[in-house]
Amino acid sequence: MPQGSTNIRDEWKYMDEECKQLQETHRIYLQKLDEISKLQSSCSSSIFRQRRRLTEMSKKCSTESSEKDSKNVDEIKDKIKTRLNAFSEMEAFLPKKNGLYLSLVLGNVNVTLLSKQSKFAYKDEYEKFKLCTTVILLLLSFICYFFVSYRFVDAILNFLLVWYYCTLTIRESILTSNGSRIKGWWVFHHYVSAYLSGVMLTWPDGNLYKIFRNQFLAYSLYQSFVQCLQCYYQSGCLYRLRTLGERHNMDLTVEGFQSWMWKGLTFLLPFLFFGHFWQLFNGLSLFRMAQLPDCKEWQVLMCGLCFLILFMGNFFTTLAVFRQKLKSRNQRPKSL
Ligand code: COA
Repeated sequence: MPQGSTNIRDEWKYMDEECKQLQETHRIYLQKLDEISKLQSSCSSSIFRQRRRLTEMSKKCSTESSEKDSKNVDEIKDKIKTRLNAFSEMEAFLPKKNGLYLSLVLGNVNVTLLSKQSKFAYKDEYEKFKLCTTVILLLLSFICYFFVSYRFVDAILNFLLVWYYCTLTIRESILTSNGSRIKGWWVFHHYVSAYLSGVMLTWPDGNLYKIFRNQFLAYSLYQSFVQCLQCYYQSGCLYRLRTLGERHNMDLTVEGFQSWMWKGLTFLLPFLFFGHFWQLFNGLSLFRMAQLPDCKEWQVLMCGLCFLILFMGNFFTTLAVFRQKLKSRNQRPKSL
């Protein structure tokens, strides 16, 4: 037999062996996947059942408690609370049904990330995405403000803003269903911003548009700059939390994190509040513009309204976040 064909045959035999091993490994993999999905459904249904019974039990506790055994009842109530929290933590690692928005956008695909590392990695990637897109938006606003003054370039900027905010709403819904504590307002903020940018996109290139254009572009420039600072702060928080391996309960070991977060926040807040008042200023300018006799465009009033909503939501939510953080900072020494 010629040497060449013997070599090929040997190589084939070797590959055949390897392929058989691969098939076996894959068979085990499928079997484990099957086991995992059975375990997932069994855990989910047990949690569902336990939760229902705990709710019934806590109702009983509040109706049937007498003076005598109130101490016992209180103890059980505390235990029920702890158990419910433990169930919520378990559920963060089990597949669940998507909410209305994700079902509409993505359909019924599972978006639960099943390990802490993948949750962190997803959030990290979300912050990077925000930073990259914000830098592009910053450059584009800069070009529009200083160099080119064509309506179609402005339209590209506004389209990019619409796309960016829509993408954020999807990513944030995925983050929320993976246990992120993003406040409802920030998600709503992105819907309003997407709508605002969409309305800006349709604003015809008339006199009024030209009057407001530079103010809007300067605001976009500033907002992108603040968002870069915000991304830096939020990625910093994320990296420090990951290093600590901690998430929601802050104790002595996270003192360093707390002081970094506090420094970052106090640095960021003046920039944020300035941005909020700029939104108020934009809103008021547009309302004034809407009263001009030659104002025929509905976009003027609509954008004014959106800016006003953004101002109120951003200002009061940021204030509430700051107050809440201040309160927990002042309470910390007492709890140690
Ligand atoms: N957008 C998206 N997610 C946000 C967010 C925002 N504006 N603000 C907070 N979050 C997320 C955090 O990343 C965190 O997520 P996690 O649970 O997955 O870790 C969660 O919400 C809870 O955050 P919280 O501890 O309440 O606040 P923070 O310290 O992360 O950030 C601020 C506080 C004030 C810096 C932040 O809310 C912020 O930048 N707000 C201002 C935004 C704004 O006004 N933009 C317009 C500028 S002109």
